[in-house]
Amino acid sequence: MIMNKPKISIAGCGFVGLVSASSFASKGFSVIATTINEKEADLINSGKSPFYEDGLDILLKKAHELKNLKVITNNHDAVLNSDITFISVGTPIKDDKSIDLSYIDNVSEQIGFALKEKEEYHLVVDRSTVVPGTTRNLIGKNIIENSGKEIGKDFGLCMQPEFLAEGKSVEITFNPDRIIIGEYDKKSGDTLENLYHQFYYDYFSKNNCPIRRMTLESAELVKYANNCFLATKISFANEFANLAELIPNVDIQQVMDGIGLDYRINSHFLGAGVGFGGSCFNKDINAILNWGAQKKNNSRILESVLKINDNQAIHIVDIAEELLGDLNKEKISILGLSFKPGTSDMREAPSIKVVNELIKRDVRNIVGYDPKAMEEAKKYLGDSINYVNSIEEAIKDSDCVFILTDWGEFKVLSPEFFIKYMKTPNVIDGRRIYSFNEFTEKLNYRTIGHR
Ligand code: UGA
Repeated sequence: MIMNKPKISIAGCGFVGLVSASSFASKGFSVIATTINEKEADLINSGKSPFYEDGLDILLKKAHELKNLKVITNNHDAVLNSDITFISVGTPIKDDKSIDLSYIDNVSEQIGFALKEKEEYHLVVDRSTVVPGTTRNLIGKNIIENSGKEIGKDFGLCMQPEFLAEGKSVEITFNPDRIIIGEYDKKSGDTLENLYHQFYYDYFSKNNCPIRRMTLESAELVKYANNCFLATKISFANEFANLAELIPNVDIQQVMDGIGLDYRINSHFLGAGVGFGGSCFNKDINAILNWGAQKKNNSRILESVLKINDNQAIHIVDIAEELLGDLNKEKISILGLSFKPGTSDMREAPSIKVVNELIKRDVRNIVGYDPKAMEEAKKYLGDSINYVNSIEEAIKDSDCVFILTDWGEFKVLSPEFFIKYMKTPNVIDGRRIYSFNEFTEKLNYRTIGHR
């Protein structure tokens, strides 16, 4: 049976919205995406991405050639000219650490107004991360109130959490490990599942990839549980890394490799180091912590996950102080400013916490280098550090180097390289990228979780 491809609209051109929009469009779906920023719309309509994401330029080029993707600034028209609307707008954190649902609120009102004028059944799918209850009680309610339509009959509602990691979002979109569908009713879930069968063909059966159907609220909580669990694994590894440092001859990586072989644990996200950054883990942990606390439920695990993570930045500066004594007269170099390799994203990057900690300890001569994040870093670190354009310049005459992002170009550096350029070769490896034996033999090397 050949089914017509449904027309898709996507509210929001952030990295989830735009990657989804261009993925659907590249596979022959007709897509209208919306943004409030006209310049951004023009740029995407010319086939270019407003930000860098691996593989996105190729998808956008294809979508542009197929003339399948149009970006406009009006959600009303987008909804009226589509069958399924995805919501992919930001859900940032407010100053009190609770979730800011104002974009969700606005967009769902606009969808409601548009649906008032629509005769046919329409499916609305939330992809933004929202605290449990939001899809039904805010999005659903706004649509009902502003459209006068009946949920389940005139329109359907789903919540499909996204699991895209920056730098890999195109790869993950085309090779998901699961699809989670939270559904208001069976018809809503069937409509979304059918769309994915059209998009992925036989991918699910060929790759043993499950599609799980559940309630809207369970799906909302899957997203938080997923990110919180990954962050917990990292903080767990860091907790044990700190224990490992209490006695010689323990290497935390060997310990984590050892437990990672237990199929019930697995080896991913057990990398000890200077801690996790990025917009998602901190934002989501804080949002769900705050949501629970408002309902008189304090998550002790999640509070500790954040504390352990914040402490890693302090701990790594302590390690440097142990090695050098007072740091305030020294020239300190930071290699790696972005929160992870492959991106210029500086949000919640450990480098920010380390720089703040150094400044607290009166260190004034700090030099930073990052292969991709220099411009972005200036927005976050201002003039608290000096910026240079190469590794050599960064470490020249330096007393101590911190490795804070595991970029490939740092991994290949040899002890001799540091010895050649630095005044005193003290290397503090916050990402455990060097061979412990080789580096400790040739220079003053410290890392997390191995003494
Ligand atoms: C994360 C999740 O991995 C995605 O599944 C999720 O969809 C996304 O958040 C989101 O909510 O949108 P992302 O923040 O892009 O993705 O980055 P990750 O690759 O998860 O890395 C996060 C941080 O953890 C990085 O700073 C990384 O260096 C650190 N990390 C990672 C460790 O310190 N140790 C590890 O073993 C792994």
